[in-house]
Amino acid sequence: MLPLSGNSSPEHHPRKLKSYELFGRKNSFNSLLQQFHHQQSRLWLLLTILCLQILLIFIIRFLSFPLPLPPVISSAANRLYRFPSAAVSPASTDVDHCKNGRIFVYDLPTAFNQDIVKNCDSLNPWSSSCSAMVNGGFGQRADSLAGVIPENLVASWYWTDQFVTEIIFHNRIMKHKCRVKEPESATAFYVPFYAGLAVGKFLWTASSAEDRDHHCRMILKWLSDQEYYKKSNGWDHFITMGRITWDFRRSSDEDWGSRCIYLPGMRNITRLLIERNPWDYFDVGVPYPTGFHPSSQDDMSAWQDFVRTHSRTHLFCFAGAKRAAFRNDFRGILLDQCRNSTAEKCRVVDCAGSRCSNGTSAILESFLNSDFCLQPRGDSFTRRSIFDCMVAGAIPVFFWRRTAYYQYEWFLPGKPESYSVFIDRNAVKNGTASIEAVLEKFSREEVREMRERVIESIPMFVYGTGAVKDAFDVAVDGVLRRFKEQEEWGYKWK
Ligand SMILES: *[C@@H]1O[C@H](CO)[C@@H](O)[C@H](O)[C@H]1NC(C)=O
Ligand SMILES: *[C@@H]1O[C@H](CO)[C@@H](O)[C@H](O)[C@H]1NC(C)=O
Ligand SMILES: *[C@@H]1O[C@H](CO)[C@@H](O)[C@H](O)[C@H]1NC(C)=O
Ligand SMILES: *[C@@H]1O[C@H](CO)[C@@H](O)[C@H](O)[C@H]1NC(C)=O
Repeated sequence: MLPLSGNSSPEHHPRKLKSYELFGRKNSFNSLLQQFHHQQSRLWLLLTILCLQILLIFIIRFLSFPLPLPPVISSAANRLYRFPSAAVSPASTDVDHCKNGRIFVYDLPTAFNQDIVKNCDSLNPWSSSCSAMVNGGFGQRADSLAGVIPENLVASWYWTDQFVTEIIFHNRIMKHKCRVKEPESATAFYVPFYAGLAVGKFLWTASSAEDRDHHCRMILKWLSDQEYYKKSNGWDHFITMGRITWDFRRSSDEDWGSRCIYLPGMRNITRLLIERNPWDYFDVGVPYPTGFHPSSQDDMSAWQDFVRTHSRTHLFCFAGAKRAAFRNDFRGILLDQCRNSTAEKCRVVDCAGSRCSNGTSAILESFLNSDFCLQPRGDSFTRRSIFDCMVAGAIPVFFWRRTAYYQYEWFLPGKPESYSVFIDRNAVKNGTASIEAVLEKFSREEVREMRERVIESIPMFVYGTGAVKDAFDVAVDGVLRRFKEQEEWGYKWK
């Protein structure tokens, strides 16, 4: 059984095993000690205790190293699957740069990628997406940011669409240092199918279930004839799906989206998505693209310095739109609190329409000028705004754990409280929590430290051009490590 849905609590977390294990060992030492109580010699007892303490100290130190934990998979049905947090080491000096494996990229028929981009005029029902596809998926250059950000950094900024990870990953993986041209030497197989771009135009229009599933069925049919896919049942295959997972999980014909993830051949393929289903092992959450695409370490460092030293005039800000259709909409409450805040501590960016979807200078300016940014859930749990906020060095404030903590574990710091604030949404709803009061309580030093954690993680969640280790590298390293561990531990679904 796949852990597709569940009611289990997030507390069932493989990482927790570490402390249970430690606890267990301590207990067995206690019982050992008890045996010694029966012996007469006090001196011996004293000496023994001393020795055991030294031993215990060694064991504890040993255990505090990041031990590889076997994934608790066979019993993981209905369990929230969380990844071990990012332990990706910076560019290592290892002789073999590809010790975690080598990647083969399928050369697909153009109908699965190039032709979709060629039809950029009709990828969504409202407007052309062609400008979003240029510059390798980064979109148009954001020249108008001159004046908002330093002159020498403008060239690293683009008006990037949020649904372009399929293109970004495809371009980068073709240049990956561990890419091989012969499938027999590969340990991982990348399927450069643009699943999200293919389904986009069907999502809001009256379209049949067949239309919405068409491309996905075709690619699975194509894959089912491939030797290496047949060999592994898809276990060493991965794909980028540039939308949220819920766009590919239609359970009945009338519902939203495509059925792509539920189609049989997709089951064992690892999927990189901007929002994952935390109960599905094969869903991996990867950051939404922001507009910042550094092409050198200098760009990266200069940007980090800029946001670190930028003077921030507001305590917090909120970029969002009220949903008039929902009564008591949570975002409406936040907008009200923001507008009512004393001495204009909060800044509102009204995102009515789609003004915020490709990032505007007004949004970037708000994040640059605020210490904190409010990140309620939107139509789904995640929003691109999380990363727009953090790339500007603002500290995100979350109201749902699934908005980031259960999504992007490879890319964000391990301890949520080190870089973000969590506020109980029910306390906000019933009027007992004032956002302003909660945020005011942090000292300047605490704010500085949290911001520093945010700034340190920028390289991990932005998409550059390949010159700096970035979100793409973290994602691919993570997938290769997973595939390698799968082999070593020999586990697969029964
Ligand atoms: C997924 O993998 C399991 C073995 O690990 C296999 O039994 C099953 O048939 C695979 N599913 C598909 C759709 O290939
Ligand atoms: C904000 O102010 C308006 C008008 O002064 C008031 O009706 C509303 O209850 C206030 N909202 C909050 C969340 O304090
Ligand atoms: C951003 O999106 C809006 C609305 O979709 C569009 O009008 C605008 O031209 C876009 N801006 C850029 C720079 O692509
Ligand atoms: C408001 O919600 C919080 C959090 O759920 C709860 O602890 C508190 O008792 C509630 N207060 C009132 C007055 O309902």
